[in-house]
Amino acid sequence: MIRRTLGRLCLLVGLMLVSAAQAEVLLSEDEIARALSHGPWPPAFEPDPSNRVSGLPAAIALGEGLFSDPVLSRDGTMACASCHDPAHGFAEPRARANGKVLLDRNALALVNLPAHRWFGWSGDTDNLWAQSLTPIVNADEMDQDAAGLKQALVTSRWADDYAAVFGPPAGQDADDVLVNIAKALAAFQETLVTGPTSFDRFRDALEAGDLATAALYPEAAQRGLKIFLGRGNCALCHTGPAFTNGEFHDAGVPYFITETRVDTGRHGGLEALKASPYTLAGPYSDDPEQQGAWAVRQVRPLHSDFGTFRVPGLRGAARTAPYMHDGSLADLRAVVRHYNTIDMERLHADGEAILAPLGLSATEADDLVQFLRSLSDDQP
Ligand code: HEC
Ligand code: HEC
Repeated sequence: MIRRTLGRLCLLVGLMLVSAAQAEVLLSEDEIARALSHGPWPPAFEPDPSNRVSGLPAAIALGEGLFSDPVLSRDGTMACASCHDPAHGFAEPRARANGKVLLDRNALALVNLPAHRWFGWSGDTDNLWAQSLTPIVNADEMDQDAAGLKQALVTSRWADDYAAVFGPPAGQDADDVLVNIAKALAAFQETLVTGPTSFDRFRDALEAGDLATAALYPEAAQRGLKIFLGRGNCALCHTGPAFTNGEFHDAGVPYFITETRVDTGRHGGLEALKASPYTLAGPYSDDPEQQGAWAVRQVRPLHSDFGTFRVPGLRGAARTAPYMHDGSLADLRAVVRHYNTIDMERLHADGEAILAPLGLSATEADDLVQFLRSLSDDQP
């Protein structure tokens, strides 16, 4: 009903605009319906049932403070913000993150995290606090352990703030202190949600049938959106309001790190997940109903998981170059070039069935870049 009305309105406004020689809505009825599925945005906040301090202002403030404080690292030199720079969309400009050693992967942007079910490029964890705990204890990153962390906390300026949220740390088990700190960090990161963009104003105007407002969205971005939804097949994986299906695919990025070493992607991620005590099915979750824990119980590494990586969300992406799990593509133009001329030899797993060189002209490639940029023009 709404669609039919929109279609008629489209035609009417289209005719009016031809005579007025003004901007117009270029999408077909079907494209409009599909564009609507990428909103509304932002989503309403829902507390994470596995984290009892999710959404709690005091925990969010503590997490924000800890995020930028190198006190979490053993030698006091590395903070979360060292690799997740707030001025770079909570990612970083280098291709691969530098911890104690050069890591294999690009630092993921810490925005719109509640949209995910699996965390990290390979889904090593099924919840945000476990993913926040990993870099603290990873020997190649902050290299801390639970006992050292508790010791550092007790003598730090965060001791009182911690006590106000979780109780006095001195008498607590060191592992619980580690998990609590990760839960405060998670509570903070849940608040990092990108704002409405010019795409959202377009989308919301289409939903409201306000075609005059919708027509303010630049035509280049509209043409790019048509490619995204249609010929480009992008929306098959970059679905929904956050532009990700949250699952793992092969997008044709090489997974060889050196000639002899590979990044196994989701396959290795599942092995790590299966071995972790910090899952939704484990003893550190605060959710008595263990919602969502069925997923970690059921998943098994399959051969087809090899070399697949999680589909990143695209909101805010214009701020977080370089791209892909290995940071190998310098800017959005390079990403579009990658898909446009994709090397079929490199594709395995399910990428093969979906991806193929697109044959976009230079103008069409530019249009697609303009559309991608329009997902990042909110005020950060
Ligand atoms: C040495 C650099 C470095 C430091 C320090 C670091 N990270 Fe990361 N972070 C990364 C990299 C690289 C990835 C991608 C890892 C992967 O997928 O294997 C990542 C991924 C993440 C993710 C997953 C995001 C998603 O979309 O799934 C979260 C959450 C995260 N980091 C939080 C933190 C927190 C909290 C801290 C501080 C306790 C921290 N990071 C410290 C480099 C770093
Ligand atoms: C088969 C599923 C699939 C399709 C189809 C697909 N993508 Fe992706 N996309 C991915 C995956 C998986 C990654 C991460 C790949 C990696 O790091 O190895 C990704 C990465 C990206 C990134 C980088 C984001 C970042 O933060 O690093 C952008 C931008 C992007 N895709 C845009 C597009 C566009 C535009 C299209 C259509 C031309 C498209 N994608 C089609 C799955 C897909």
